[in-house]
Amino acid sequence: MDKTIRDHGGDIYTEGQLRGRELLDFSANINPLGIPKSFKENIKSILESAVNYPDLKYREAKENIKAYLALESSKYEIILGNGAAEIIDLSLSLLKKVCIAVPSFGEYRTSALKYDIDIEYSYLKEEEEFHYDYEDILRKLHHCDGLILGNPNNPNGGIIDKKAFQPILDFCEENSKLIIIDEAFIEFTGEPNRSFLQESLQYQCLIVIRAVTKFFALPGIRFGYGITTNSKVAESIRSKQLPWNINTFAEVSLKYIFKDKEYIESTIRYVNKQKSLLTEGLRKIPFIEKVYESSGNFLLLKLKDITDEEIFESCLQRGILVRRCGNYEGLNHSFIRVAVKDRKSNDTLISLLKDIHI
Ligand SMILES: Cc1ncc(COP(=O)(O)O)c(C=O)c1O
Repeated sequence: MDKTIRDHGGDIYTEGQLRGRELLDFSANINPLGIPKSFKENIKSILESAVNYPDLKYREAKENIKAYLALESSKYEIILGNGAAEIIDLSLSLLKKVCIAVPSFGEYRTSALKYDIDIEYSYLKEEEEFHYDYEDILRKLHHCDGLILGNPNNPNGGIIDKKAFQPILDFCEENSKLIIIDEAFIEFTGEPNRSFLQESLQYQCLIVIRAVTKFFALPGIRFGYGITTNSKVAESIRSKQLPWNINTFAEVSLKYIFKDKEYIESTIRYVNKQKSLLTEGLRKIPFIEKVYESSGNFLLLKLKDITDEEIFESCLQRGILVRRCGNYEGLNHSFIRVAVKDRKSNDTLISLLKDIHI
């Protein structure tokens, strides 16, 4: 099987569309409210812009990002990417040896391997609820020139404890190491101060990566961005990019979606409510040993007496796609991940799982 298919969620094609059937996809973690109305309502003006090349310097897009994130200082540099994945990839390309906190998004490892970068893993331990092991990370950073980790982390939804992380920040700043913080899911926390954007004003060792992919339910327009106050890092990344790497749909959509307060607020309320209900329902399923606390819009589940492959197959037969976790570095076949979707879909998942007898 093509490796990318096993490494990622969201493959509704192989077993779904290409076989003429619709799957209910719990494997990709996309905002269940769907594409913002503000995007759909302005699609005509966005479409009309497609006749021109985008602004080579993407000035308006960057201003929209600054306004959305209230980045007032002129020290912030913004780098735009074809999804968060492009910025993750190019940030990693600057390193020689990286510490990757795992389990985590598989592209960290894939990109590092692509550039022949040595990898040192810092394992999040099951017996410690998959919290980051800050002391271990710090120890490993003595012989790495960079670190990448998620905030919140995929697949468990864990968030960085800022107090425990402080020694790592100080060490990296003093020793010119790069910290790449992937905040692709941060907006779902509803707590802007969980982000490291403020810290990056003082700490040049930081690059924070965001995307419209997950929170604004727009994986198809491929738009992510990196923020740093380290102009050398920003320039090194930009020098590896193609001109016009961002398409018009992504460029122009920002001016609508970032101002859509109603969508932003209702997403946070809705996802939190559905996450609690889904967690409650999943905790009643006999073969689910544990549902981990998550700050994202997805849940990591520990299975009992059944494998991720068996659950995957049973769900697939009934038209539901879940994310097997056996291929995550640092996990095994006893874990799956499910997205938090709308109430009706979540109920469908729970009743399907109740029907699986082992
Ligand atoms: C933690 C994390 N970061 C980044 C990405 C990639 O985001 P994008 O689609 O914007 O490239 C994903 C996608 O699954 C992810 O889970």
